[in-house]
Amino acid sequence: MLEHLKANNRDWAQRMVARDPGFFRRLVNQQAPEYLWIGCADSRVPANEIIGLGPGELFVHRNVGNLAPSQDANYLSVLQYAIDVLRVKHVLVVGHYGCGGVSAAVDGKRRGLVDHWLHPIREVWVDHRDELVAIPEESARLDRLCELNVIRQVGNVAADLFVQEAWARGQEVSVHGWVYSLADGLIQDLNVTVEGPRC
Ligand code: CO
Repeated sequence: MLEHLKANNRDWAQRMVARDPGFFRRLVNQQAPEYLWIGCADSRVPANEIIGLGPGELFVHRNVGNLAPSQDANYLSVLQYAIDVLRVKHVLVVGHYGCGGVSAAVDGKRRGLVDHWLHPIREVWVDHRDELVAIPEESARLDRLCELNVIRQVGNVAADLFVQEAWARGQEVSVHGWVYSLADGLIQDLNVTVEGPRC
């Protein structure tokens, strides 16, 4: 079953060792990534690959719509581990244009559980309704909603107690909002970086 995937894996492991014989031995003993990536589960946005980082360099949390909901135990566990144990320097919240989760949040169709998961995106829509309805073209409107969603999630991460406590004890960590374009493979920085508690 799935022999091609196992063969790919053997080839990959061989290539890594050929390039650097001590590679896996070093990784066994520690991981010290400087970055936490919070991104969409979309298969077209492979986190490590698009920013050129290898194993051990990026701590990754992905879900539908790149959300950082303050009640989600999975996200919170990843965040706490990244901040308190790994002591990452940067949290990257990365959305992407053409996100199916973002469009599904506001298209009015019922899909089941995922509608509840996507509810925070509908809140973003409601909060920015005037700006969004003024954009005539639908894909442009949804792309703007992708950006606004990232900005909201950056705010969620920055407001989280684990992050606030890290800043209070003088730990340096910054939270960034990026959007990835499926069309050209490029990341755009939304310039909403938060580097400390807001007064
Ligand atoms: Co997506």
